[in-house]
Amino acid sequence: MARKIIIDTDPGQDDAVAILLALGSPELDLLGLTVVAGNVPLARTAGNARKVLELAGRRDIPVFAGCDRPIRRRLVTAEHVHGASGLDGIELPEPTMPLQSAHAVDFIIDTLRSHDPGTVSLVPIGPLTNIATAFQRAPDIIARVQEISLMGGAYFEVGNITPAAEFNIHVDPEAAAQVFASGAEITVLPLDVTHKALTSRAWVERMRRLGRIGEAVASWTDFFERYDREKYGSLGAPLHDPCAVAWLIRPDLFAGRFINVEIETEGTYTTGMTVADWWGVSGRAPNATFIRDVDAGGLFDLLSERIARL
Ligand code: BDR
Ligand code: CA
Repeated sequence: MARKIIIDTDPGQDDAVAILLALGSPELDLLGLTVVAGNVPLARTAGNARKVLELAGRRDIPVFAGCDRPIRRRLVTAEHVHGASGLDGIELPEPTMPLQSAHAVDFIIDTLRSHDPGTVSLVPIGPLTNIATAFQRAPDIIARVQEISLMGGAYFEVGNITPAAEFNIHVDPEAAAQVFASGAEITVLPLDVTHKALTSRAWVERMRRLGRIGEAVASWTDFFERYDREKYGSLGAPLHDPCAVAWLIRPDLFAGRFINVEIETEGTYTTGMTVADWWGVSGRAPNATFIRDVDAGGLFDLLSERIARL
């Protein structure tokens, strides 16, 4: 039976590809998208999520708007990476499907309560504000979560938004700290992995030949790549968020360790850092599987195969 998931997202070109990967994968049953403020403000992430679903012809997937700012901080956005719309690269029509009237946090709570325990997984690929707020309001749902597969954090690669911190965790470190302390089963797909999964020209051109959806993926990637090329001098771009979905479909493509991960919330220079005890020196109890390696060829083959099905 397909694994039921909720994707919590702030699209984002790489978020969009992650959503498409889930839609093209029979192993996954996407119950809904919950959107959060992150790469761009909430009004835009809510619009972008619906644009992606309409592109894929999946107006049946409900979209719920969630928190418009972090729990205790002002919102930091990333238009410098994703463009003013958050989804620059190709012009998509304004969505016509409605946003659901329920709040994303209520959808997360109600869905976990209405399904058997251990049958719904969460896939957060933006700041963790919606997830932490749901856990805070309804602690009973934590034990009902099957698994959290999240894109966020960094250890060996350290930061992308500050020298020490990765964007998703940095935007709402208090939320991240709550989620990592929750006791839920967590798998972390950090920059250490996503920076090993760089798009290649050949893959982008393969996408471009796949029709309308593939063309959107290629155009988003072209846009996204320019930032990484300038910043890291790399030839391709990391497709961060699809890694969190791919983990649920093909865990054999990844390798990591079950370790202790704490979130820095008070550092002068390090707020939002994921302090990952890779070498087990702290004595603190493990709370997350921290992925470090990926079979990049396998990941991009999976993406091509699944996006071609849409
Ligand atoms: C993460 O931040 C966002 O800009 C991307 O969508 C991804 O979720 C990478 O640091
Ligand atoms: Ca994202």
